[in-house]
Amino acid sequence: MRIIIVKDYEELSKRAANILASQIILKPSSVIGLATGSTPIGTYQELVRLYKSGNIDFSEVVTFNLDEYYGLDRYDKQSYYFFMNKYLFSHINIDRKNVHIPDGKAENIYIACKTYEKKIKKAGGIDIQLLGIGRNGHIGFNEPDMKFEALTHLVNLDEDTIKANSRFFNSIEEVPKQAISMGIKTIMNSKKILLLAYGAQKNETIYNMVNGRITPELPASVLQLHPDVTVILDKGAGSLL
Ligand code: PGA
Repeated sequence: MRIIIVKDYEELSKRAANILASQIILKPSSVIGLATGSTPIGTYQELVRLYKSGNIDFSEVVTFNLDEYYGLDRYDKQSYYFFMNKYLFSHINIDRKNVHIPDGKAENIYIACKTYEKKIKKAGGIDIQLLGIGRNGHIGFNEPDMKFEALTHLVNLDEDTIKANSRFFNSIEEVPKQAISMGIKTIMNSKKILLLAYGAQKNETIYNMVNGRITPELPASVLQLHPDVTVILDKGAGSLL
């Protein structure tokens, strides 16, 4: 695990965007795994800036998002589909047919999850997967105690996650209780991983991810077994390392 601690969120976002941009420059048809949540917003803004200044071209890039709330359709303002359009896709020249986000309204979840995995495989696998991390150590929506072997599947969200994500909704009751998420195995199959975290409230989680036991109780701890992980932290998130 390569750990980079930077002074603040702005620098974290720039570093992360530069890593993704160099991936795209080196391989214009890169397959990139994307994340939602507050953490990657600055990275997306920086990628848009790099695109607008002519430094990167998304025309051949293929993307797969980590997860989507189950039950929300793509036009719902709380959906991750909506989020991705708002912060990234509507500002860059990505080909919409290359964009993949799990379908929150899929009628047959089992088939939808299988198809998602097949599409990742057909695209040649994920070259680099961007990740945030929950305070409970989740990556994607792989909550504590989820099996490490899981591929894309339907998950029940943790109380902790529902509470944390309620800040984006009018009330906690509105937060979906389930999501479709890439599994730990899907994430571990990516060739490279880029995990971002900021804020002192995540410092213990980060400490345990890096130095703790590898256990499904802290899903991100499995990343210790991945051969190519870069972690970018601000001073707060890295304060116990
Ligand atoms: P956050 O969420 O970026 O909003 O903190 C990260 C996560 O829950 O994976």
